[in-house]
Amino acid sequence: MPRPLPTLPSDFVWGVSSSAYQIEGATTADGRGPSVWDTFAARPGAVRDGHTAETACDHYQRWPQDVALLSGLGVDAYRFSIAWPRVLPAGGGPVNPAGLDFYDRLTDALLAAGITPLPTLYHWDLPQALETTPDGAPGGWLLRDTAHRFAEYAAVVAARLGDRVRDWITLNEPFVHMVFGYALGNHAPGHALMLDALPAAHHQLLGHGLAAAALREAGGRVLVANNCTPVSAATDAPADRAAADAYDALHNRLFNDPLLLGRYPDLTAYGVTGDLGGAVRDGDLAVISAPLDGLGINYYNPTVVRAPEVGSPLPFEEAPQPGVARTAFDWPVVPEALRDLLLGLTRTYGDALPPLTVTENGCSYPGTDDPERIAFLDGHVRAVAEAVAAGADVRGYFVWTLTDNFEWAEGYHQRFGLVHVDHATQERTPKASYHWYRDLVAAHRGRR
Ligand code: NOJ
Repeated sequence: MPRPLPTLPSDFVWGVSSSAYQIEGATTADGRGPSVWDTFAARPGAVRDGHTAETACDHYQRWPQDVALLSGLGVDAYRFSIAWPRVLPAGGGPVNPAGLDFYDRLTDALLAAGITPLPTLYHWDLPQALETTPDGAPGGWLLRDTAHRFAEYAAVVAARLGDRVRDWITLNEPFVHMVFGYALGNHAPGHALMLDALPAAHHQLLGHGLAAAALREAGGRVLVANNCTPVSAATDAPADRAAADAYDALHNRLFNDPLLLGRYPDLTAYGVTGDLGGAVRDGDLAVISAPLDGLGINYYNPTVVRAPEVGSPLPFEEAPQPGVARTAFDWPVVPEALRDLLLGLTRTYGDALPPLTVTENGCSYPGTDDPERIAFLDGHVRAVAEAVAAGADVRGYFVWTLTDNFEWAEGYHQRFGLVHVDHATQERTPKASYHWYRDLVAAHRGRR
């Protein structure tokens, strides 16, 4: 017996999310410039088994088939990302009209299928030209100039698509991009700068603020998609509780506070001793905190932390979560933590919190018969419904992702799709979870 459908507002938006680099392939087609991920993935050992995204899901050619899959799913909206290096191959300067044409066609096809396009402007595929510096020092988001280039790029895209796109997401997961790309080096551009990576947080947020102004100028509404994790201490010991507060400040509040409150948490007070302040200039926080039309939440799992070993450069370390189920990627499965996260944000930010949308949620499991994914999604949708019933203003839920795709440093090894992709033949096969999600959306629509 299926459990009764959770009650959600009749205009609740159901969607799926994807990103350009993970699905498009065609990395040299039609004037696209190189991105930092092309460079990084070519480095031996950077991506598991040397996988690259040169072909990915060949979405650049096969997008009509993917739009048909979206249509079959019956979703209200599709979150995809625009590849900056297709639009501005050198990061700034001359526009590549063929790159814009691709997203123009995709937008029209989505609208024709009754699906609202929700583009993300930046999902980690920075034009390589913005990373390369004359003296070989790391560039990209460590440089303030990148924020200004991002705003120019946003204006170019809005001028082309703004007559058909109302809602835009500026950045995807600036925390993850800073940590993996600039602090640890296991994502592009591959810098292991530890706490010297903090300026990449500020410059991304500044880029968001400057781009938001350009998008609003073109009549758009603006969201940002933050990766958020509810943090708890491994024990009640004061040292573990302090470690949890420090981790929460770095992972969640470093991004949510400036956007929503116009100030950074005092990381130094938590023992996180990087130079963030050095990057911040007068007026930046006012640009960053211009009111948002919505906050996107990408949720995968909660984090449990404890006090670190003596001598650790960081004031926390991750603790195990014993007895918790795990996905094929070894990520903990804790649906109720999504409810707690949404309610926690509602409590913490009060009137400063715009409406929330779960812009990503999903899991990696192999196979096309995927009861674990169905159970995962079912649990998380119910957690959203519980949060809404308890007072959180959540407007939509987007599954990550439509098709199995290039999962960054994991290559094609992790499969998050509702649709299986045979990466040798590009054959798409809807999984059991695709049919389950289709039925969920249809049942909800039946109540509208
Ligand atoms: C979040 C990222 O935005 C997306 O690119 C990634 O594939 C999923 N998490 C799963 O790791």
